Amino acid sequence: MTSATSETAQPIRVALLGCGTVGTQIVRLLTEQADDLTARVGGGIELVGIAVRRPNKHRDVPAELLTTDAAALVTRPDVDVVVEVIGGIEPTRGWLLAALNAGKSVVTANKALLAEHAGELFDAAGRSGADLYFEASVAGAIPLLRPLRESLAGDRITRVMGIVNGTTNFILSAMDETGAGYSETLDEASRLGYAEADPTADVDGFDAASKAAILASLAFHTRVTAGDVHREGISAVTSADFAAARALGRTIKLLAICERVRDADGQESVAVRVHPAMIPRSHPLAGVNGAFNAVFVEAEAAGQLMFYGPGAGGAPTASAVLGDLVAVARNRVVGGRGPRESAYADLPVRPIAQASTRYHISLDVADRAGVLAAVAAEFAQHEVSIAAVRQEGRANDASLVIVTHSAPDAALRSTVDKVAGLPFVHEVVSVMRVEGEES
Ligand code: NDP
Ligand code: HSE
Repeated sequence: MTSATSETAQPIRVALLGCGTVGTQIVRLLTEQADDLTARVGGGIELVGIAVRRPNKHRDVPAELLTTDAAALVTRPDVDVVVEVIGGIEPTRGWLLAALNAGKSVVTANKALLAEHAGELFDAAGRSGADLYFEASVAGAIPLLRPLRESLAGDRITRVMGIVNGTTNFILSAMDETGAGYSETLDEASRLGYAEADPTADVDGFDAASKAAILASLAFHTRVTAGDVHREGISAVTSADFAAARALGRTIKLLAICERVRDADGQESVAVRVHPAMIPRSHPLAGVNGAFNAVFVEAEAAGQLMFYGPGAGGAPTASAVLGDLVAVARNRVVGGRGPRESAYADLPVRPIAQASTRYHISLDVADRAGVLAAVAAEFAQHEVSIAAVRQEGRANDASLVIVTHSAPDAALRSTVDKVAGLPFVHEVVSVMRVEGEES
């Protein structure tokens, strides 16, 4: 499987690790676009090996390329670039470190690995002079990391916020639009190739947290790992939450929010969180449905930028991988290198308890005199300011919805704990952050 070779340069020899949803599309594009890629790179791109788990399953690729020995493939002398689309942390981390230590450039879509070990991988790449590219690891086909790493390198980014997980957006969109059940929609997302091998990585927010760590690291020139990210998934989001959101002209999205924060004493830090949030239906993110992703980037000079497109799936992700492969191959042909890690700012990461957001709290209470006043008193006690209250009677009970002004997470949690213990509060039906509105 060799592309048309250039008269001017040796072909760039590529080892592919993984040939599943994304890998099969990479093989297809490499084959179908061989001549164009050669012209763009200034030399051919030759696939010299493909590591998989079960070679018998892969009847569409030449058998002589297949191997189950990824460890041997990544350091073979006839390999220039390793493209990794297997996923997971081990043994992939060891293979990519071995490749980088041997001077092979690496292109990967593996956000779980990068969100934990980017520093180690960049260090290895730095020592050997190899490239490390990972555009496909965040937001599928959308060119987002290269703008952060390169186009905005002269600006100062203050905030990155968006929808970065296609599977959960697919599920939440279906719950909102059709009232579809959670598990059947997740099955459909897996069938369409959006979900991770273990889909709990999607629904519990791990995948989005990894992506948020990568985005924050690039945006704020600081090493942020997945463990630094406050994470809440969507498994607790119910149809009652959607009904409550709808009643107030809102919908629910799983958001990743990365912020540069300045304290009163001028000390800067980074706050990174992933959680479901209610947003107004008029907000541009409310119209991002299915497996699409969208990310807002705010920078001091550029202002607000929005990136939108397919966030998951084999072909869209392969597009981003191929873009990186062309960049790496061009660097090899001309003898240059891509951008290295930029972590000079080394800002501290702020705990979630100090983060301030607006909240929507829905309570099931007894409908009698003094209830609203007593609930409001708990909010006042914890210095959580109420922005709006809505009450609807139901026989002897009432549904009480409270929307707060911006309040620290810790104060809100203490307030809700106290309110839940009041004798006339039957149930705390839902507590959800509100984003995209004035605080
Ligand atoms: P799949 O599960 O579809 O494919 C994984 C591939 O890795 C399979 O070909 C499998 O081999 C191979 N593999 C697994 N373990 C080993 C092993 N020990 N040795 C050799 N090969 C192995 O995953 P995807 O293609 O969906 O995802 C791959 C990567 O891309 C992940 O990091 C994912 O997070 C990322 N990604 C995926 C997106 C998507 O929409 N799917 C979007 C963006 C990023 P075999 O086929 O023989 O079992
Ligand atoms: N499982 C991921 C998602 C794949 O649903 O967004 C794309 O990174």
